[in-house]
Amino acid sequence: MHLSELDTPALVVDLDLMETNIAALMGRLRPTGVRVRPHLKTAKCPEVARILAAAGASGFCVAKLGEAEVMAAAGIDDLLITGELAGAPKLRRLAALHARHPRVRCVVDSVAGARMLDDAVAATGVPLEVLIELDVGQGRCGVTPGEPARALAAEVARLPHVRLVGVQGYEGHLQHIADPEEQARRVAEAMGRLTATAALLRADGHAIESVTTGGTGTCERCATHPGVTEVQPGSFVFLDRAYRDALGARGGYTNALTVLATVISRPAAGRAVVDAGLKALATDMGNPEPVGLPGVRYRPGGDEHGILEWDGPAQDGLAVGDQVALIPGHIDTTVNLYDAYHAHRGGGVVATWPIVARGKSQ
Ligand SMILES: Cc1ncc(COP(=O)(O)O)c(C=O)c1O
Repeated sequence: MHLSELDTPALVVDLDLMETNIAALMGRLRPTGVRVRPHLKTAKCPEVARILAAAGASGFCVAKLGEAEVMAAAGIDDLLITGELAGAPKLRRLAALHARHPRVRCVVDSVAGARMLDDAVAATGVPLEVLIELDVGQGRCGVTPGEPARALAAEVARLPHVRLVGVQGYEGHLQHIADPEEQARRVAEAMGRLTATAALLRADGHAIESVTTGGTGTCERCATHPGVTEVQPGSFVFLDRAYRDALGARGGYTNALTVLATVISRPAAGRAVVDAGLKALATDMGNPEPVGLPGVRYRPGGDEHGILEWDGPAQDGLAVGDQVALIPGHIDTTVNLYDAYHAHRGGGVVATWPIVARGKSQ
């Protein structure tokens, strides 16, 4: 089947470009010796995980327990859940997952949270590996580096059913900094906080084997900071418009994922309407970009409609029934809107991959 035969809106992956992105990241990180644990919150798909594993990934990250459950069921169970877990239903599910997949790791940033995990897995008889999450500047979750982290580590080490194996300090606020010098300086500061705390915990006798951090925008810088052992980028696999605009050529990645839409109306000169609106393309990080249509801008026209606009006659040839490819502004939130990827090479669809972790936000 050719892409032109697909019904729309459809999520389309250019396999050649995706493989080039993966090879580029792995190739640049290999000489550092740092493990790459890609974040599957972006792709949400076991087939993509298997391609990453074949390219050298050392395990994977997921953001949510629901993502961990479906990935483990698909045979991918060397997983770090990068968000804290709390609440009785969640902890019951964690216990069940841990009993079957003891390699699943969790993060904690409070004594209360750590005790909940400890209680939850007590009956399984196998310790749950945990990492202490540090706030290295993002201002989201994470205990303050230094003494507060040290105090938390001491409490976690007393718990009988969890085993402290590392620290996580994700610097999400630094991913899209366009100025390379500013980014380098701020990443170095954040990594300094992370690795100094890892050293403090080791000095207290904790076996900190994992010091994990970094996303697509920063992982190469993180990986060269002494003391970082692992990076967790996700978006590089497909890239999106927001990342491309921020990193430009220095990122070294290409947009490999598009949403295919169909023109359903040509109501006026300089305007076409496509069948992909807010339910097909996330706009939380900016509007999508039409591919191969210079001068054409996309804006949402409601839940089901997308509006393409242009000045002058340049694109007046766009006709009802034409397909248009759009690069999403933000891939994570766009991918989460689809049941499957259509993977193609040179326009020929070679596979359809279910996005099994789509909507697994619990
Ligand atoms: C904890 C954590 N690690 C890694 C990533 C991956 O970042 P990116 O998709 O920007 O590569 C994210 C993304 O939100 C994250 O929340």
